[in-house]
Amino acid sequence: MPAVISVEALTRKFGQLTAVDGISFQVEEKTIFGFLGPNGAGKTTTISILCTLINPTSGRAIVNGHDCKKEPRLVRSSIGIVFQDSTLDKDLTAYENLVFHAYIYGVKKQEIRKRAEDALRFMGLFERKDDLVKRFSGGMKRRLEVARGLIHRPRVLFMDEPTLGLDPQSRAHLWEAISGLPKEHGVTVFMTTHYMDEAEVCDRLAIIDGGRIIAQGSPGELKRSLGGDIIFLKTADNKKAALKIKEALGITPGEKEGELFLASGRAEEQIPAVIRALPDLVLSVRFQRPTLNDVFLKFTGREIRQQDVQGPDSLKEDLRAYVRRH
Ligand SMILES: Nc1ncnc2c1ncn2[C@@H]1O[C@H](COP(=O)(O)OP(=O)(O)OP(=O)(O)O)[C@@H](O)[C@H]1O
Ligand SMILES: [Mg+2]
Repeated sequence: MPAVISVEALTRKFGQLTAVDGISFQVEEKTIFGFLGPNGAGKTTTISILCTLINPTSGRAIVNGHDCKKEPRLVRSSIGIVFQDSTLDKDLTAYENLVFHAYIYGVKKQEIRKRAEDALRFMGLFERKDDLVKRFSGGMKRRLEVARGLIHRPRVLFMDEPTLGLDPQSRAHLWEAISGLPKEHGVTVFMTTHYMDEAEVCDRLAIIDGGRIIAQGSPGELKRSLGGDIIFLKTADNKKAALKIKEALGITPGEKEGELFLASGRAEEQIPAVIRALPDLVLSVRFQRPTLNDVFLKFTGREIRQQDVQGPDSLKEDLRAYVRRH
């Protein structure tokens, strides 16, 4: 599949500080690519470069075939943006906000109405289309922003922590729509998150820390890179069972709190062989699969934050300037 985003040795410095430090990655068409990282990792800086809000110090970013630094206008017209801070006009209705945006993006007049209504329907806001945005809940506003980000039919939608600060129900609702974007709208999604359950649903992930990508792959690949599942067994005779497992599978199990345990690639494939090796000895079997949290812990040496944090004020300014330019 062709790459819609291609990033090579991208670096961004703020004075002495290297916020993004020589990162490279590619995003394939019609996939969801997640950028996972703790506070200050460089997520917003990266997404800001890709959206042409700021320039890189060095390296290259190509979006939809256009160079972010050399052809920012072409990049901008082909992308949609949903950032943390709302740029909706609260004194307009949902529908008016979309029409206004479509107009700015040069959507043909005769198409605007249909596109606005389609987008509202897709995001589950059609019934509220004539309500003023100031009466919307946080989750509804965020969904409206996604609708707005889609109105000019961008090939790529960039979202910086789109579900940050939302309650679980709004988060699920929004996420449901996001996950349908590649298939239903042919949109490629690039998003940052620090929620593991969202990262889990991405097609590919890059884990970024201290401005560097320290691991990338599908959630499954990343988890398998930890050495696979661990199978735990309760047996009638641990000593005998351990010997039999060694004979049959060439693995020496460990023993902890009365249970045998062994590392395994995929537990569902190993368990039948383990049971066959121990015909009368197995009392119970369970297994543990590594989580993305384990992956994060392994690569960064710490757990990803779970509390919500706001982005730097400078970004809000960049975004406001961007909206004004349009
Ligand atoms: N305009 C700026 N001027 C100076 N330093 C900046 C600027 N923008 C970001 N930084 C710094 O660059 C680093 C990366 O910031 P960035 O906002 O990209 O992180 P992030 O991964 O988005 O973090 P968060 O999860 O908190 O949103 C941080 O140390 C931050 O303080
Ligand atoms: Mg950020």
